[in-house]
Amino acid sequence: MKTIRPSALDVSEFHSYFLGAVAPRPIAFVSTVDARGQVNLSPFSCFNTFGSNPPILIFSATRRVRDNTTKDTLDNVIEHPEAVINIVSYDMAEQMSLASTEYQKGVNEFEKSGLNELPSEVVKPPRVKEAKVSFECKVNQVMPMGTEGGAGNLIICEVLLMHIQESILDANGKIDPFKLDAVGRLGGDWYVRASGSSLFEIEKPNRNMGIGVDQLPLAIRHSDILTGNDLGKLANVASLPDEASIRSYADDPEVNAILVSGDTAQRQRALHLKAREFLSNGEIKKAWLTLLQS
Ligand SMILES: Cc1cc2nc3c(=O)[nH]c(=O)nc-3n(C[C@H](O)[C@H](O)[C@H](O)COP(=O)(O)O)c2cc1C
Repeated sequence: MKTIRPSALDVSEFHSYFLGAVAPRPIAFVSTVDARGQVNLSPFSCFNTFGSNPPILIFSATRRVRDNTTKDTLDNVIEHPEAVINIVSYDMAEQMSLASTEYQKGVNEFEKSGLNELPSEVVKPPRVKEAKVSFECKVNQVMPMGTEGGAGNLIICEVLLMHIQESILDANGKIDPFKLDAVGRLGGDWYVRASGSSLFEIEKPNRNMGIGVDQLPLAIRHSDILTGNDLGKLANVASLPDEASIRSYADDPEVNAILVSGDTAQRQRALHLKAREFLSNGEIKKAWLTLLQS
C-alpha cells in the first residue's frame, strides 16, 4: 500500500494522485460575466450537488499552482455573483475541453469553442444552447480554502431555474441517463462517458432492512465463488426462505442433478456456481433456495 502525506509531495505531484483517485467527477461547464458584462465559459470538475432544499451546487476554481494567479471564473463570480452551470454531454466534450484553454480575461470561450449562447431568464450569464441541462444560479458565497497556489475556492451556488431538454426525458418524464450521455473527468487526460454498458442499476436497499453480510451462513460468507457484490445482494433480503420452500426446491431438476452428484465439496461448489448465475440475473430468491440446499 502506498501511503502519501500531502505535505511531503509538491502540490502538482499530489494533485495528480488526488484527482486520479477521486474519479469520475461530474463537470460543471460554468458561464459567468465580469463587472463589464464580458462573458466567460470554463469547465470545473471539482463539482457536485450539495442539497436540494435549498437547491445548492458547488464547484471550486483553484488558484493556479504555477504562479498563484486566480481564474477568470473566480474573479467574475466575485464581481457579479451569478453563474449558469451547464452539464457536459459526450457530444460537446471536445468543445468543452477547448473552452478550458487559458484565454486572456475578456475572451469569450463561447466564441472560441463554437458553442452557442442562449439568453438566461433570471441571470445575466448566458446558457450553453447545446447543453441538455442548465442551471441558472445566484452565487451565495465564495469561500477561499487557502492563499497559496493550488488552493481551492468553494463557490456555493443556489439554483434559481433548471432547464432540461425534453429530448432526454423518458416515458415517465424523468431524466434518462442514456439520453443525458454525461461525461465525467478522471485523472490526467482521462474522461468517462456514462452510456452503454457503463451504466448499471442497483435497487435501493430493502426498506424492511436487509439481514446484513454478518448474518450470512459462514459457508456463503467465505465462499470462493461468490463475490462481494453477490454477498451484498444476498444480504439485502429481510428474511431467509422458509423450510418448506427450501425442501420443495430440492425437486427442481437442475438442483436435484447437483444434489445427487459428486462429494460434499463438489456439490457445494456447483450450488454456489448456480446461485451466482441466479444472482447475476437478479433472481435473489432462487439463489437463496439453491444455496440453502447445501
Ligand atoms: C474537464 C475539466 C475540468 C476542470 N476542472 C477544474 C476545476 O475543478 N477547478 C479548476 O480550478 N480548474 C479546472 N479545470 C481547468 C480550468 O477549466 C481552466 O483553468 C480554465 O482555463 C479556467 O478558465 P477561466 O480562467 O476562464 O475561469 C478543468 C479543466 C477541464 C478540461
